[in-house]
Amino acid sequence: MPSKERQPSRKSANQIGKTNNPKPLTSSRWSGRRDLVRGDRYDARWEQLAESGQNIHGEADFVEAYNPLSVLDAGCGTGRVAMELYRRGIDVVGVDLDERMLGTARRKAPNLSWVSGDLATLELGRTFDAAVLAGNVMIFVLPGSERAVLNSVANHLTTNGVLVAGFEIKPDTISLEEYDLAMSEMGMEPAGRWSTWQRDPYQGQRYAVTAHRRV
Ligand SMILES: C[S@@+](CC[C@H](N)C(=O)[O-])C[C@H]1O[C@@H](n2cnc3c(N)ncnc32)[C@H](O)[C@@H]1O
Repeated sequence: MPSKERQPSRKSANQIGKTNNPKPLTSSRWSGRRDLVRGDRYDARWEQLAESGQNIHGEADFVEAYNPLSVLDAGCGTGRVAMELYRRGIDVVGVDLDERMLGTARRKAPNLSWVSGDLATLELGRTFDAAVLAGNVMIFVLPGSERAVLNSVANHLTTNGVLVAGFEIKPDTISLEEYDLAMSEMGMEPAGRWSTWQRDPYQGQRYAVTAHRRV
């Protein structure tokens, strides 16, 4: 368990590295959807759930259990997961390509590292003990970019670093078979699959949380 007293690094995005696609950022399924709420309105939904007594930090609980000192929140959105991990003493960097989502994250936690970038081409110039693709990021990336996203996120892991993704299983998005094949071809070692962030067993449900380790 990371020490609660440890002070995470507060390096800025410029200090930790860069993305190799300055502007404009590549679009995603997320950016193409007009029916989705973004930014403060997206975040308000989570806040309301928290106020109603629900635990909105299942992903942070899950990731913290690996005792990482550093975590890449890949597709961080408004920063819900990264902010909670930081609060628990973990060094975090959040990356997203939606400026409205990042705007909320920056307003809520201006001292954290938020990077505007496309996960498919990310080059931060540093590694992390864990990376998390929370909140269905894998079904919101641009179709056809899934392998590139997984590859560049995995390349940001230390040896033994863990990559965790939770996403819905839907007909027109990456399947678990495709996900597992991509990870296997990258040399990532399977480290478990569950149906929830609370580690309920996976028995074919329409939502899966999957962990792999970089060996
Ligand atoms: C449903 S939101 C989840 C946000 C956050 N992880 C959470 O759990 O609250 C999906 C996020 O994935 C981001 N995303 C999709 N494709 C991306 C890509 N290629 N690079 C960076 N972010 C991406 C979107 O911009 C969006 O903020």
